[in-house]
Amino acid sequence: MAAAPSALWSSRLAFVLAATGSAVGLGNIWKFPYVAGESGGGAFVLIYLFCVVVIGVPLMMAEILMGRRGRQNPADSFRDLAAEAGAGRWWWLVGLMGVAAGILILSFYSVIAGWALAYVPSAASGHFDGASAEFVGTLFGNLINNPARLAFWHTLFMVITVCIVAGGVEAGLEKAVKYLMPALFGILLILFFYSATSGYMGQALAFMFTPDFSKVTPQVILSAVGMAFFSLSLGMGAIMMYGAYLPSDASIPKLAVSVVAADTCVAILAGLAIFPIVFANDLAPGAGPGLVFETLPLAFGQMTGGTILGTLFFTLLVVAALTSAISLLEPAVSWAIRHSSLSRGTAAILAGLLVCSLGYLTIFSFNQLPDFKTLFDSTIFD
Ligand code: PFF
Repeated sequence: MAAAPSALWSSRLAFVLAATGSAVGLGNIWKFPYVAGESGGGAFVLIYLFCVVVIGVPLMMAEILMGRRGRQNPADSFRDLAAEAGAGRWWWLVGLMGVAAGILILSFYSVIAGWALAYVPSAASGHFDGASAEFVGTLFGNLINNPARLAFWHTLFMVITVCIVAGGVEAGLEKAVKYLMPALFGILLILFFYSATSGYMGQALAFMFTPDFSKVTPQVILSAVGMAFFSLSLGMGAIMMYGAYLPSDASIPKLAVSVVAADTCVAILAGLAIFPIVFANDLAPGAGPGLVFETLPLAFGQMTGGTILGTLFFTLLVVAALTSAISLLEPAVSWAIRHSSLSRGTAAILAGLLVCSLGYLTIFSFNQLPDFKTLFDSTIFD
């Protein structure tokens, strides 16, 4: 028999906001535009949309359903559901892998969120104004090569995340998404309307929606599938965890479609906000991970109102990352509470400390752990 839930969302809207908050994150605003840019635009976007509809919607329904039926963290929900179905005794390990994957993802996710957090005061204090490509590159390089600064912003981001998760389902998670999600949509719309007046929307639309199938390689298909999973927060137990707090009478197909539609709209809107700025400034859409941190500041520095827009943009990135980060931490916290006598607050702090420590390894791997890089030909971050 399924366990009784310890807490529930106060409404269906609260669930939609929280699950959309989990789905909408760095994946939509940082990763989607640069991966689409690198993969040639239209064809990648079409394959991505196809995966979202054909794989994303059914899997989203399945995760919410399993969460609501199990009413616990992913590991214990898996255990009880498997027992109920007469399946093997080891299924809980699959759920636990999701919990662990959440911690691992958060350990690098919060480092990138830290970059965005660092850029908010930079943008607000006018650092980008009139900056050259070289200056913007140096600004980014100075951040990446300064472990103390990286550690500071990463830690600050994790402290905020821990404080929200420690507050619990209603007073922490729900309250945070209630304010953060409308702020996120508002900022994104401001940026989109700004870009719509830039005169380069046509070029951005053509880039994103005119498929050139000669660019489709197995690698492009794989990254579109991966992008769909990552962007919808699927396979990590985050959505399953949020499903565990869902009232029993909510319609799962409707909720799943709403979350998938909102996430996809944000990814497309983010692309349509970013690419016109890229084209208007003669920048390269395939600039890679630096697209948002190196290319865009250059554009913000050259446009009227760039200081405000730049500040808004990086605030948007931080807000989006925060609502995803809480969904990555919550399964581990819920699991820890269930299997110990820890209070929610202590469990959140301990899980946060674990994520922070793993994050420091990532940070030092950028430049302080050359031996690791030589041995494995990539950094821990890679
Ligand atoms: N969906 C988030 C994004 O697009 O940034 C990332 C993410 C959150 C992945 C939660 C997985 C997860 F469980």
